[in-house]
Amino acid sequence: MATERTSLFIFFGGTGDLAYRKLYPSMFNLYKKGTLREHFGVIGTSREKLTDQQFQEKVFKSLGVAKTDKEAQKFASHFVYEAHDVTDKAHYQVLKNRADELDKQYKLNGNRIFYLSLAPSFFGTVAGFLKTEGLTDTDGFNRVVIEKPFGRDYDSAHQLNDALSKSFDEKQIFRIDHYLGKEMIQNIEAVRFGNTIVESLWNNRYIDNIQVTLSEKLGVEERASYYDNSGALRDMVQNHIMQIVSLLAMEQPVSFTDVDIRAEKVKALRSLRVYNVAEASTNFVRGQYGAGDSQRAYRDEDNVPHDSNNDTFVAGKLLFDNYRWSGTPFYIRTGKMLADKFTRVDVVFKKPLIDIFSFPQNHNAPLEANVLTMYIEPHAGFSLRLNAKTNGQGFQTEPIDLDYFVDAKDSKATPEPYERLIHDVMKGDGTNFSSWQEVSYAWRFVDQIRKVWDLQQPQFPNYTPGSMGPAAADELIQRDHRQWVYRLNK
Ligand code: BG6
Repeated sequence: MATERTSLFIFFGGTGDLAYRKLYPSMFNLYKKGTLREHFGVIGTSREKLTDQQFQEKVFKSLGVAKTDKEAQKFASHFVYEAHDVTDKAHYQVLKNRADELDKQYKLNGNRIFYLSLAPSFFGTVAGFLKTEGLTDTDGFNRVVIEKPFGRDYDSAHQLNDALSKSFDEKQIFRIDHYLGKEMIQNIEAVRFGNTIVESLWNNRYIDNIQVTLSEKLGVEERASYYDNSGALRDMVQNHIMQIVSLLAMEQPVSFTDVDIRAEKVKALRSLRVYNVAEASTNFVRGQYGAGDSQRAYRDEDNVPHDSNNDTFVAGKLLFDNYRWSGTPFYIRTGKMLADKFTRVDVVFKKPLIDIFSFPQNHNAPLEANVLTMYIEPHAGFSLRLNAKTNGQGFQTEPIDLDYFVDAKDSKATPEPYERLIHDVMKGDGTNFSSWQEVSYAWRFVDQIRKVWDLQQPQFPNYTPGSMGPAAADELIQRDHRQWVYRLNK
C-alpha cells in the first residue's frame, strides 16, 4: 500500500466534464492504491443545485464500477456539495464552514487543495476570496491547482498570475499541463540523464535535428466555442509542445528536484530565439482542415463561423541560441484531423562523415541517419535506428530498428496523467507542473508568431482530413534538406 496522504479538496467546476471524466476516477485510483484512505474529504462546487446525495451518486457513476462496489461507495461518501456563485463573497463563508466541518470529521490537519477548473477570468476572483474569507487560514498546507488555458497571450497570463500571486505564492500554485503527467514524457529525463551513451551525444555535434509531433485524428468535436478562440498554436504549442521541447533541450539539472529541473527548463526557454516578423513568417506554418470524404470542413463544424481563420494545424522550426543547440533545429507539428492519433519525438543524428560502403562497385544505398524515436502515445516505447550489414553475400547495409515497447500489462497499470498529477499536488512536488517563468517565456515566443499571423490573411482550408497537414509543413523542413521521419506513404 502507498503512503496515505491527507487533504481536503475543493473542486471549483466540480460538476464539469473534466471532473467526472478524469479527476474523480483518478482520485478513486489513488484511493484503491491507498494514497487516499480515511483522511480526505471533497467539496464539489458549481452553479448547479445538487444535494450531497445527488452529487455522491454522480461521482459514483463517474467511476464506472458495479452498483454494489463497496469500496467505491465508501470513496464517494467522502464527497459533499455546495452550489456556489464564485463572485458572491457570502458563499465563501458557507464553503469555509463546510471545509472546517470536513477538516474535523476526517482529521485533515488543515491541508487544503483548491482545484480551479473554471473559466480563467474567475481565477483571480476565487483566489482573492479564498484568502480574504479565511479559507486559506489553516495550520496545514494550502495549494491551488489551475487548469489550462493560462492566459491567451503574455499580457493576459501576466495579469492572471498577478491576481493569483496576491493570495498564493509560486510554491503553492500548480499549473496543470497534463502532458507532464504522461509516463513517456517523464521518461525523457530518464533516458537523457540516465544513459551516458545518450547524454554524451545529446548536442549539436551529433544531433542533426529533433522532431516533435502531436498528431490528432479527431476534429474540434463539441469544443468549437473554446477552440475557435484558441487555435492549435495556443491549445497545443504554447503549453504541451513547449514543455516537451524544454525537457529535450535543457541542461542536466543539479539534482532531480522541482526547483532544479524548472531552473534548467527556464534557462533553455530563455535561449529559444524569439522570431522577428520575417523569421516567424518563414519558420511557422499554419493550417485549417477542409472537407474530407465523410468529414465536414472546419468552417462547417457546429459553432464555427463560416469565415473562421482559426488554425487547426501548426508546424514550426525552433532555434536555440546556446552552445548545446546552435545549428540544430527542433521541428514541431500538431493538428486536428490528421492521419492518426499519436505523439512521438524523433531525434535524428548526423550521418557518418564518410560513408565507406557506398562506392561504385558496391551499389550500396547511402547510409541512413541514426534515429532515436520516443513513442509517447498510444504505444509507449523507444526505437533506435542503426545501420547494419544485410544478411548474406556481399557487403550491403540496411537500417535496422532496436525496439522496446511497454507491454500490455505494464501499460494497463500506467497511472493516468491526472492520477499522477493529483498525487504530486498532495506531495507538494511541482516537477510536473508549469512554473510561471516557463509559461511566460513560452507565451513570449508564441505571441510573436500569433502577431504575425494576425496581420496576414491565410489561404484556408489548406489540408485534407487524414493527411499530415498542409504541403507547406513538408516544404518547411524540405527547405533545410531534411524530411519528417514520420510521413505518410514513405
Ligand atoms: C488538450 C487540448 O490540452 O490536449 C485538446 O485542449 C487536445 O485540444 C488534447 O485534444 C490532447 O491531449 P491527449 O492527451 O489526448 O493527447
